[in-house]
Amino acid sequence: MIKALDRGFTGAVTGWYTENRRDLPWRKDRQPYHIWISEIMLQQTRVEAVREYYLRWMEALPDIPSLAEADEEQVLKLWQGLGYYSRARNLQVAAREIMEQHGGVFPTEFDKIRALKGIGDYTAGAIASIAFDQRMPAVDGNVLRIMSRIHADYSDIKAAATKKKVAAQLAELYPEEGKGLCGDFTQGLIELGAMVCVPNGKPQCEICPAAEFCRARAEGVQMELPVKAEKKARRIEERTVFILTNGSLEEGGRMAVRKRPAEGLLANLAELPNVLGELTPDQALQRAWVWGCSPAGLTRSSKFKHIFSHVEWHMTGYYSTCSDCGTPDEGEPFRWVTAEEMEAEVPLPSAFQYFL
Ligand code: ADE
Repeated sequence: MIKALDRGFTGAVTGWYTENRRDLPWRKDRQPYHIWISEIMLQQTRVEAVREYYLRWMEALPDIPSLAEADEEQVLKLWQGLGYYSRARNLQVAAREIMEQHGGVFPTEFDKIRALKGIGDYTAGAIASIAFDQRMPAVDGNVLRIMSRIHADYSDIKAAATKKKVAAQLAELYPEEGKGLCGDFTQGLIELGAMVCVPNGKPQCEICPAAEFCRARAEGVQMELPVKAEKKARRIEERTVFILTNGSLEEGGRMAVRKRPAEGLLANLAELPNVLGELTPDQALQRAWVWGCSPAGLTRSSKFKHIFSHVEWHMTGYYSTCSDCGTPDEGEPFRWVTAEEMEAEVPLPSAFQYFL
């Protein structure tokens, strides 16, 4: 027999969370700034990877005013490697909105939280429930997986209508406000999805606190759920990347970088000079001459693949020591930076880090 889905489920999840929660830096208090930054970082990134980024960020930008006033370069540098850089820019825009529209105090009302730049339904729900103890669901992939199994529901979890349905189901199940439990329910569901009702491989139903409420378990269909519509195949782009230096970096030599265009993928971030297509060594050498770098021969790297959400870059690198600090005739000029400058100042996306 499956138990009816009621607040018994809620109690099972929050009780389990209290006993089993991982000790994570953003769980030390309920400051909305802490919850907000961590939730944005945790979108698309593993908990273990976020830990370091979160601690570094809080050291550098401990509150809303410091984020609002920071240089964009510093913000992007703190984000370097997390990907989806618009998230970092939006954080700063929202911090400025909070300074200007809310007197520097994080708003408590759901609609006002939701109206901040870069905050969608999920993040607004997470902040409202965790920081402000409100009965507001936060429906992410973990929560969708759990609820599709609990109900043995074969709806496509990528569909907006499914998210809406799950949010409505959960809204009924949230604990009463005023006991500090709404955040535990939100984080309990997320934690259960990460630790027990896992996405890859077999869920650990034997230790699941919600097992007696779970229709998928009762019917033995856990592994068929959730249903996710196939994604469109990514576009593949061949690229040739140039690692141009004017001497050994260990001995103070410099490497050419430039700023990417203000629009599109990795907007305004740094890049190693690169062109579309896979150039032969001769073509690559010629390209470096056209840029005015006077290259002394080239070494070809192995191929690297970097995956973005809609496109894959298949990159070939050419290393060359140059005797002139050339610069392209179009687009942004090259900046020739030392290893120290690269480390401290240049927001070079992960896609280019393979070559360093
Ligand atoms: N993933 C998304 N939100 C999270 C949280 N608060 N703790 C751990 N993992 C998460």
